[in-house]
Amino acid sequence: MRINGHPYRTIWVGKDGREVQVIDQTVLPHDFSTVTLNEVEAAAKAIESMLVRGAPLIGGTAAYGMALAMLADASDEGVEAAYARLMRTRPTAVNLRWGLERMRRVLLAEAPSGRADRAYAEAAAICDEDVEICSAIGRHGLTLIEEAARRNGSGRVDVLTHCNAGWLATIDRGTATAPIYAAREQGIDVHVWVDETRPRNQGASLTAYELLHEEVPHTIIADNVGGHLMQHGKVDLCIVGTDRTTRRGDVANKIGTYLKALAAHANEVPFYVALPSTTIDWRIADGVKEIPIEERGAAELTHVTGRDAQGRLHTVQITNPGSPGGNWAFDVTPARYVTGLITERGVSAASEEGLSALFPEEAKQAG
Ligand code: MRU
Repeated sequence: MRINGHPYRTIWVGKDGREVQVIDQTVLPHDFSTVTLNEVEAAAKAIESMLVRGAPLIGGTAAYGMALAMLADASDEGVEAAYARLMRTRPTAVNLRWGLERMRRVLLAEAPSGRADRAYAEAAAICDEDVEICSAIGRHGLTLIEEAARRNGSGRVDVLTHCNAGWLATIDRGTATAPIYAAREQGIDVHVWVDETRPRNQGASLTAYELLHEEVPHTIIADNVGGHLMQHGKVDLCIVGTDRTTRRGDVANKIGTYLKALAAHANEVPFYVALPSTTIDWRIADGVKEIPIEERGAAELTHVTGRDAQGRLHTVQITNPGSPGGNWAFDVTPARYVTGLITERGVSAASEEGLSALFPEEAKQAG
């Protein structure tokens, strides 16, 4: 991703080969600043406070958190303590567990003296693989945008997306946004409807920020607009991300995704979910019953931060003082409302058969 023409990933290791640098996503789009993580606790707090967020980036940050932990204590107890601390950070994105289990397995197989170097190499591999995966998702998702362009015949394709499943949620390129960038590279006229995504506004703040910097035409819409646009033929397809997908294809994603899927179903608009295989939880089948849904503090709902005309940042309350708020961060879209899953190995039906055909080795191991 380019910011003012300069290419960035969302996480990288500093010049000393040890400090980990991340982009502070809590201050975007108002400021672009980076933060240094130099111990496991800092990595854990970065995930909890959503300084970094998005399923693949949570996994990548946790992997580097394990590497930072190895600098302080590379014993077996040190591995287990770092694993346990990082596992407690956020409950819904399964990439966290996936990344931490991979790191723990690799580190316990290594002698303590070699664990720090091994941890940095493995965390780097996890991040590099994520970039490859997102590029492959882009190639497979491109065919769906090409189909939509042929279908509507107008030359313009309108994609609706929810939350931020873009570069900032991954290491680079994003999942839901990767097909959009691929389509632009092919000269397709793509326009993106960006759901604001209350309460934290990841769509309005982050997806819009990315698309503007990449010069992709887009329009921010309030969360409740999508159904109206679909009724009036203004959405060719929806592409969203996911934090956890069950082996049957139920999808947990940012709160509000389910309502968009219902509206898409009612209006016969294709509803696709882009996902790296690291987001599939092969151990569970029923998303509504089995996926843990994070509940966050009500302040995210009751207060907003923005710039005034003089450029000063303010946080203000927008709800009735004294009224309580409930803040569920994710919801589950059952597989029957999902037209297809865009993975790094191709597009599959949102079903156990579809996912198992693309990932037979994972399905076998799970089953
Ligand atoms: O709470 P967040 O901002 O971490 O939620 C992010 C999402 O819901 C994304 O859509 C999801 O992680 C997919 S990221 C490629």
